Amino acid sequence: MPAPPEFDFLVIGSGIAGLHFALLVAEHGRVAVVTKRRATDSATNYAQGGIAAVTDAADSFDDHVRDTLNAGAGLCNEKVVRFVVEHGPRAIEGLLKWGVEFDRSEPDPGTGESGYDLGREGGHSKRRILHNRDATGNEIERALLERISAHPNVSLFEDHCAVDLLTSHRAGRTESNRALGAYVLDARTGEVDRFLAGVTLLATGGAGKVYLYTSNPDIASGDGIAMAYRAGATVANMEFMQFHPTCLFHPEAKSFLISEAVRGEGGLLKNLEGEAFAKRYHDMGDLAPRDIVARAIDTELKRSGDDYVVLDVTHLEAAFVRKRFPTIHQHCLDLGIDITEKPIPVVPAAHYCCGGVRTSMHGETDLANLFAAGEVSCTGLHGANRLASNSLLEALVFAEAAAEQAIIRHGQIPEIGDVPAWRHGDSIESDEAVVITQNWDEIRRFMWNYVGIVRSDRRLARARRRIELLREEINQYYWNFRLAPPLIELRNLATVAELVIRAAEHRKESRGLHYNLDHSNRDDARFCCDTLLQRGEAPRSDPS
Ligand code: SIN
Repeated sequence: MPAPPEFDFLVIGSGIAGLHFALLVAEHGRVAVVTKRRATDSATNYAQGGIAAVTDAADSFDDHVRDTLNAGAGLCNEKVVRFVVEHGPRAIEGLLKWGVEFDRSEPDPGTGESGYDLGREGGHSKRRILHNRDATGNEIERALLERISAHPNVSLFEDHCAVDLLTSHRAGRTESNRALGAYVLDARTGEVDRFLAGVTLLATGGAGKVYLYTSNPDIASGDGIAMAYRAGATVANMEFMQFHPTCLFHPEAKSFLISEAVRGEGGLLKNLEGEAFAKRYHDMGDLAPRDIVARAIDTELKRSGDDYVVLDVTHLEAAFVRKRFPTIHQHCLDLGIDITEKPIPVVPAAHYCCGGVRTSMHGETDLANLFAAGEVSCTGLHGANRLASNSLLEALVFAEAAAEQAIIRHGQIPEIGDVPAWRHGDSIESDEAVVITQNWDEIRRFMWNYVGIVRSDRRLARARRRIELLREEINQYYWNFRLAPPLIELRNLATVAELVIRAAEHRKESRGLHYNLDHSNRDDARFCCDTLLQRGEAPRSDPS
């Protein structure tokens, strides 16, 4: 058997965090980037809004910090918030260096100078979102992938699906546990290879696919969170799943977001009676933090029995709407909705996982040599609710912090040594793919109904009973049949669903994105702390 490939750095995932990290560490060693489908199949590529950063004289770090803390409902780590916000301008410089372009405002007639055309989104007291029309993520992905494919030290492996982390304990050693790389399925050959590396970065994105309705692309099955948890790393705050208030409601539209920037430019949410209802729920109206707007829509829908509310931009100048939101305009037009003439039908959908693999300020997890950055991680920035457009910023700042630390660690890592090959054992090809689709649908539906925007103790208990049964069934199936990406994803999705349910059951209060009808008040005395989840242990509140 040929020796397994060995790299200095293994990056799992090809969104902004993984690619930025890869480009930084590539100056210090050989890097493998593995990604389970095409490299562009990342949540970054679909990000519409942009990146929040202080670049304008009328704005300040203090304002951005305050807005982030307000959205986070008492659970943000203020030190992390300040660190990310203050590194914002440098992070933007980093992207400009990779060739990313942001929209600029019209030049000042007097000086001829122009600044950035800054957008506004919910929870922000100032205009501070740098964007490239309404396709910012696509522009970032384009620029980073161009650099990655030209870099002699980086090898990009598409259609390579990470199965599990390789650790020294898994390799049968008694030393204290450390990451040694990952088992990775080559989806084209069906073989599971060992990708060995001194340092491994999880940059696998979020877990929106755990819910029936989501703005996320199909890859968002929580792989990194599930793998880290199985390997023994601590996962935190999984009860805080953010629902974006406005996803397109249309039978042919799958996961299409209507950016919050649309409301930032004056778009108004209305119920089907024509009432602009948002001010009834919060002083900031349509631009209140997302948890509040999503819950307001949920309440309106439950009250009226309607399937959707609408987002109206027909009062804005049509030429401006077409220029500022070309992707949204065209996508809706393709489905027969000219948004300059008709309001857009919208519903909330799962959008962003504020919890994830717990990291230090350097992006290190508590499993040695394993780092995490981007949506897969829980750094302390978002607390109980993420401020809009803070996620690309967090991914950049933590990818850089992780790269700096990984370069230091890499110089100190002992040899990887011998690691056992993956054993297919007696597993055979499955002839019952229906088991996978059935279980996948079941999880997503009960998560939506029982663990969605509004929860209750009874709904959570029902969800827990169901996930326990399903996990047992999936585990049996997993070890008996030959691995394929849908089975790997289903197993991860089931693990993540269980983590969300258990964290939500543990938090007996309502805060930020977690709203439980049976505990509808915030309880700072007992729950102003993170929820920690570790394999083999009951969820617990962080004592620190
Ligand atoms: C949006 O464009 O509304 C999404 C921005 C974000 O989730 O941060």
